[in-house]
Amino acid sequence: MNTDNSKPAKSYPVLDHDEYARSRPADDFWGQIKRTINGKPVTEEQISLIVTSIRSNLQLHPEDVLLDLACGNGALSTRLFDNCRAFLGVDLSAYLISVARKHHEVLPDYLFLQQAADQYVLSEAQPQRFSKVLCYGSFSYFSEDAAHTVLQTLFERFSQVQSIYIGNLPDRDRLDLFYKENRPSDAELNDHASRIGIWRSQEEFAKLASEAGWQARFINANAQFYAAHYRYDTILSR
Ligand SMILES: C[S@@+](CC[C@H](N)C(=O)[O-])C[C@H]1O[C@@H](n2cnc3c(N)ncnc32)[C@H](O)[C@@H]1O
Repeated sequence: MNTDNSKPAKSYPVLDHDEYARSRPADDFWGQIKRTINGKPVTEEQISLIVTSIRSNLQLHPEDVLLDLACGNGALSTRLFDNCRAFLGVDLSAYLISVARKHHEVLPDYLFLQQAADQYVLSEAQPQRFSKVLCYGSFSYFSEDAAHTVLQTLFERFSQVQSIYIGNLPDRDRLDLFYKENRPSDAELNDHASRIGIWRSQEEFAKLASEAGWQARFINANAQFYAAHYRYDTILSR
């Protein structure tokens, strides 16, 4: 009999981002956020494909103030510092934010903060200072409630934000290209705490965005990108 009050274990693995990051070497920045292929950090060419797509689709320019939601350890964020005047990265993981601060923070304008994304968007004191938002490789890990809150609150409170880049979303319509066998249960595919988070089709994502006021445009991934066969990126605009 289960005598404690904790929830029963799930029948599939869950991902604790903070715990996982702490298990990796201190300088394994891509490993800490699981940007790996067969357990090895992705190549510089792959990172460059990501950064190029973000810069061009967000149309980053030197006067932009960029918010990076669920920024991890800042290894990706730092590649964008030359393209914006000021920057704030927010992540739930205390460990990943400590790595970001140690290695990537540039005072006084390029900063990192430890907080849940939904709590942060509700509590930011000066939301109107931001002009662009990035959320890369992370949105699928927000609960349904948090996902709604983030999109809705960005629309309402962050009124100067023209566009949001949401990247590396797992595509429910292309599940079979990732899971050739042992397809996970629907419960796992709909669980933000699972290894990949919530899988959504582009149609589902467009609906979620539109309920918060945003129009979604989907970006054709570069065919060289290692996850192009099952993930997609989107740009939201007003
Ligand atoms: C795969 S990492 C991506 C990090 C970074 N955006 C990048 O692309 O390099 C996913 C990140 O989402 C963060 N995360 C998950 N749920 C979150 C939430 N509710 N609020 C803020 N961060 C969250 C995790 O701590 C983790 O750092």
